[in-house]
Amino acid sequence: MPTLSESQLAELGRRILAAAKVPESECDAVATHLADSNMVGHDSHGVMRLMQYVEFVEQGHVKPGSPIDTVVDTPTISVLDGNFNFGQVIAKRGLAVGMEKAKQLGTATVFVRNCNHIGRLGAYTEEAANAGFAAMMSVNAPGPGGVAPFGGMERRLGTNPISMAAPSPNGAFVLDMTTSATAEGKLRVAHQKGESIPEGLIIDGHGNPSTNPGDYYNKPYGSILPLGGSLMGHKGTGLSVMVDVFCGMLSGSGVCRTDLPRGANGVWLHLMQVDQITDLAEYNGWMNTYVESLKSTPKRPGFSEILMPGEIERRRRSEREQSGVPIPDETWRQLTELAERLGADISQVG
Ligand SMILES: NC(=O)c1ccc[n+]([C@@H]2O[C@H](COP(=O)([O-])OP(=O)(O)OC[C@H]3O[C@@H](n4cnc5c(N)ncnc54)[C@H](O)[C@@H]3O)[C@@H](O)[C@H]2O)c1
Repeated sequence: MPTLSESQLAELGRRILAAAKVPESECDAVATHLADSNMVGHDSHGVMRLMQYVEFVEQGHVKPGSPIDTVVDTPTISVLDGNFNFGQVIAKRGLAVGMEKAKQLGTATVFVRNCNHIGRLGAYTEEAANAGFAAMMSVNAPGPGGVAPFGGMERRLGTNPISMAAPSPNGAFVLDMTTSATAEGKLRVAHQKGESIPEGLIIDGHGNPSTNPGDYYNKPYGSILPLGGSLMGHKGTGLSVMVDVFCGMLSGSGVCRTDLPRGANGVWLHLMQVDQITDLAEYNGWMNTYVESLKSTPKRPGFSEILMPGEIERRRRSEREQSGVPIPDETWRQLTELAERLGADISQVG
């Protein structure tokens, strides 16, 4: 199992994408985003996505080099049309446009249509929080979904993630979570490793609970449960439906429908500049007091500490900066096979 540093992971991505004829600046935007996901421990959104992304380019779902058009442009609202370029390229542009506007009037909302997979949402909201914004972001995925609504046994919703971030003196708060019981990528990782998954995440094609990720990928297709599972899944379903409305209906990208082929992701991003809303010194003081209060909660048996949203990812990053990122043998085999097929030289990378 090779172990790679962040710069090696990014270089691996750049070389493979360049060999798939992706323009240089876009290779860099995508490759650095994937490497960053590995660094914070979200391997399901890391370099293992290169196989899927190259396939998307070859099938024409991703159109590298496509321009990003501005459809609506008011002082506080932008609607962008990504014309099916890489999601990371479009989302980075959306973030830059939104931050520029929010610096002027204190707030900005950006919608993106015709976008591809944007990867880990927390990367964008954390960047916004580190620049002084409170940020909310969501993404939906029109076309066949993977998640059954509460009480249902067929796929009708996407994993529709939500991220919220806010500046804090000792590290931004970064909530970044699916509105489903699990991210699809986590099932894929377990499936690749031949491992079972915890109970409560998926049902099989007959609506029965399952711990076998194969039940999701093989016919009759099972479904991911909404966040809250069989007991409280109405809450996850509700959040997911609203993500479809904000990201799909308002952006014009569309919502999850069984009668449509794979569609384009819709993105919603909302930014508020903290120092235009409240006194920054006071805010920072309150944030510190709040963190101390939560962390000093007496712990239940089996728990040694309380973590803030985004803290575990920051920890994994500092661990992986020391130790590197282990790439599972099967993922490495697929990456080297892909590089060989495309004629990409990755010999000095791994
Ligand atoms: N682009 C897309 O289409 C898409 C779709 C689905 C998911 N995703 C991404 O998948 C990733 C994984 O999502 P997920 O829901 O599996 O995340 P997760 O369950 O690993 O983490 C969810 C949140 O909980 C926090 N957290 C984790 N452990 C904690 C603990 N012990 N105590 C307190 N807080 C804790 C994390 O910091 C995070 O904010 C996300 O980065 C998401 O953006 C992307």
